[in-house]
Amino acid sequence: MKLWGGRFTRSADPRAEGFTSSLSFDRRLWREDLQGSRAHVRMLGAQGILSSEDVALILEGLEKVEKELKTCQFPFRQEYEDIHLNIEKRLTELIGPVGGKLHTARSRNDQVALDEHLYLRRVIEQTREGISQLQGAILELAKTHLGVLWPGYTHLQRAQPILFSHHLLAYFFMLERDYERFSDAWKRADSMPLGAGALAGTSFPIDRRQVATELDFSRVYENSLDAVSDRDFFLEFLAAAAILMMHLSRLAEELILWSTTEFAFVEMDDAFATGSSIMPQKKNPDVAELVRGKTGRVYGDLVALLTVMKGLPLAYHSDMQEDKERVFDGADTVLSVLEVMAGLLSTLKIRKERLAQAVQRDFSNATEVADYLARKGLPFREAHEVTGQVVRYALEQGKYLMDLTIEELRRFSALFQPDVFAHLSPEAVVAAKTSYGGTAPERVREELDTAERILAGRLTGKTGQAQER
Ligand code: ARG
Repeated sequence: MKLWGGRFTRSADPRAEGFTSSLSFDRRLWREDLQGSRAHVRMLGAQGILSSEDVALILEGLEKVEKELKTCQFPFRQEYEDIHLNIEKRLTELIGPVGGKLHTARSRNDQVALDEHLYLRRVIEQTREGISQLQGAILELAKTHLGVLWPGYTHLQRAQPILFSHHLLAYFFMLERDYERFSDAWKRADSMPLGAGALAGTSFPIDRRQVATELDFSRVYENSLDAVSDRDFFLEFLAAAAILMMHLSRLAEELILWSTTEFAFVEMDDAFATGSSIMPQKKNPDVAELVRGKTGRVYGDLVALLTVMKGLPLAYHSDMQEDKERVFDGADTVLSVLEVMAGLLSTLKIRKERLAQAVQRDFSNATEVADYLARKGLPFREAHEVTGQVVRYALEQGKYLMDLTIEELRRFSALFQPDVFAHLSPEAVVAAKTSYGGTAPERVREELDTAERILAGRLTGKTGQAQER
């Protein structure tokens, strides 16, 4: 017998029943559903809507249901459509008709919205924890390798030497923005929808603020239609997740590039790489590739849910049942990616000998020559032109800038003095970038301090492992 059996004369076609059921995926919400129901029934008691005996019976029954769910003994039944109806049906089986009073002054529309808010707040917490852990791994790597020079690129062409730690810390601060985005998204997840009823509110004298307080929400939805129609909180999570994945995908792409034979700047630990089934020499960066690949999946989750929502008149429609798989998928993906990236980075080997060569023999000190001339009074545009001519000359001679003699340099500008050579080593080039946020060692040390301070106030020492997905 369906819960809405009264109105119906024929039972559901099995095709329709299977098609409309969300149980296979929303059973993950059982904890939130129980949590919400307990707060609801206590409020019904406090408001005198249910007697204290009924409330006690229902709470006891929910206890039993919880035990069954925890020990995997709960009899899930697809004919009861979703987790909400499954729990309510089972409650009534266990404690009798009084179980039917639980749904007083409540609709599944506000019930599912509440469960989703509770779920998302927990997931956002885990995501922030995962971001912090990854930031910690980046910071460690940056601290350990402070002083390692690194060729900086633009257009994937050698540009200017920098510190490897400076490059890494760019990702630290990128992730800091992600952390802030999730923290901001949390504010919208932190609004309590229960009490909206199906759409219009309820005629029972409920107290929505009590439910909010018990469940630790700082606000309640102001408008009952909005409360049951809103999925912005899910969308904001997925949007923040999509941007986070874009960042992690760029990092993954760099790691893949850096571990090629052509670059050979880093080596991934065997524990985070895989071999080829045919080519024995290969070590493939599959973990990083999958991080890059899974980015597409999270974008898909976001676009799918935006598309589901875009044509829906107020208030609830079954279309919205499609929200859960997208958000669960996006959350599972993001949490696992954060975890594996932290492992990948904390075991990464840096090939210092290769890097020492990489920053020596190139023209990435050319900007420093132009700056030198500009400091001697030549307008920078002219200094750039002169340096360009010097570079062309050196290329023709098969030399690098530091191989040229002072006489050769002075053919291009009388401003060159022997002290120019002191500016040409990669160490000197890096040390000269002392502007705030620049790559000079003392600036990078300040960045490290800032990063450390940010994390110190936050890390709890937990693993960031998503509990109970
Ligand atoms: N299973 C539904 C969902 O996930 C719960 C809300 C259903 N409400 C309804 N009137 N059919 O969205």
